[in-house]
Amino acid sequence: MSKTRILTGITTTGTPHLGNYVGAIRPAVAASRDAQMDAFYFLADYHALIKCEDPERIERSRLEIAATWLASGLDPERVTFYRQSDVPQIPELTWLLTCVTAKGLMNRAHAYKAAVDENTAAGEDPDNGIRMGLYSYPILMAADILMFNAHKVPVGRDQIQHIEMARDVAARFNHLFGKGSDFFVLPEALVEEQVATLPGLDGRKMSKSYDNTIPLFEGGAKGLKNAIARIVTDSSAPGESKDPDSNALATLYQAFADSHETDTYRQTLRDGLSWGEAKQRLFEQINGQIAPLRDRYENLIAQPAHIEDALQAGATKARAVAAPLLERLREAVGLRRFKAAPSPAATSKGADSHGSALPVFKQYRESDGRFSFKLVDSNGSLLLQGAAYDSPRDAGQRIAALKQGDAAFPIEGETLTENVDSATVTAALHSLIAE
Ligand code: TRP
Repeated sequence: MSKTRILTGITTTGTPHLGNYVGAIRPAVAASRDAQMDAFYFLADYHALIKCEDPERIERSRLEIAATWLASGLDPERVTFYRQSDVPQIPELTWLLTCVTAKGLMNRAHAYKAAVDENTAAGEDPDNGIRMGLYSYPILMAADILMFNAHKVPVGRDQIQHIEMARDVAARFNHLFGKGSDFFVLPEALVEEQVATLPGLDGRKMSKSYDNTIPLFEGGAKGLKNAIARIVTDSSAPGESKDPDSNALATLYQAFADSHETDTYRQTLRDGLSWGEAKQRLFEQINGQIAPLRDRYENLIAQPAHIEDALQAGATKARAVAAPLLERLREAVGLRRFKAAPSPAATSKGADSHGSALPVFKQYRESDGRFSFKLVDSNGSLLLQGAAYDSPRDAGQRIAALKQGDAAFPIEGETLTENVDSATVTAALHSLIAE
């Protein structure tokens, strides 16, 4: 029975809050206990450097996040739990992938585009303040995933595009260097539909950027209690019936209770429980579950050397997977040990620096004066015959749409070569994305 490999990274900036626990940590720990799963969880500390230039904060956050995951029940014997920066194969793979990634693909990344839009709106230079780390972020993330041939990547919605980019980069590398054998599994995003997004103090999604978070362990039971006291409610008096959906209380309660307990809580609010008492009950409910983890957390934080040992052991396991694959990849791209002299035939063929082993679009003019194109694979065999257009621009636009990777084909006037299935053409188009 082959297991499904799941992999996810946690960027080590900031301190975990209740939203992180319910949305990411708790489900990930549960998944790691599933016998069908082979889980790889890591601290994305190279990614953290992109957002943060405060070394103390990076150090502190790595420790807190590692301790939080361990205290929340992650078993490092069973899961491969490591720091990204302890696996030098990841940045090395990043470079190999960078060399085959189309710049146009990175131009489309949401995070980069948002930064450009902000600059443009402010009348600044579009690239003002944008670092290469932000721009290349998706390639580092692709390396994180592809290095371990993960099948499924549990992420939030905002990360789906990055997983799609990882697939595109993987398809392209496979295509250029795979020669019949694929190096990389094409990963899939796993977005948990059922996992609740927790509301924060003001009812909006709990997020550091809204400054509305409730700490998970920070500040102890008192910190939890004080934060809950700050949840925004209306001014209904004790005894007055309250709408359980008018603020964050009931949703927060539900994340730490079974459905029966939740129903009771909601009913008591309708029956006129005071907000103060409602907050006290919410605190007790959450604290009942969190307190034992908090004790473990405090013990762990007090002994960083234990955490270090666990992470070192995890990194050893991770490197044992990464190193042999990287060796094959180096071999594939031509970074080889010198043994015999390379044969002249072998050097004149294969991918040149312009990627001639990729499929290509060929635009041409038909004898009747109209404009068309063909998509041919790297051996020159026809995959897709384009329709005829009155202008080269129209033909070019159709090619551009196909290169985006999500246009339907064949449209009217186009023909798919017999015995070529559409999956082959889709794969060829993906290997060309934004070229
Ligand atoms: N970018 C992810 C986030 O901000 C963190 C991350 C880095 C990640 N590398 C990854 C997630 C690889 C999944 C797989 O949430």
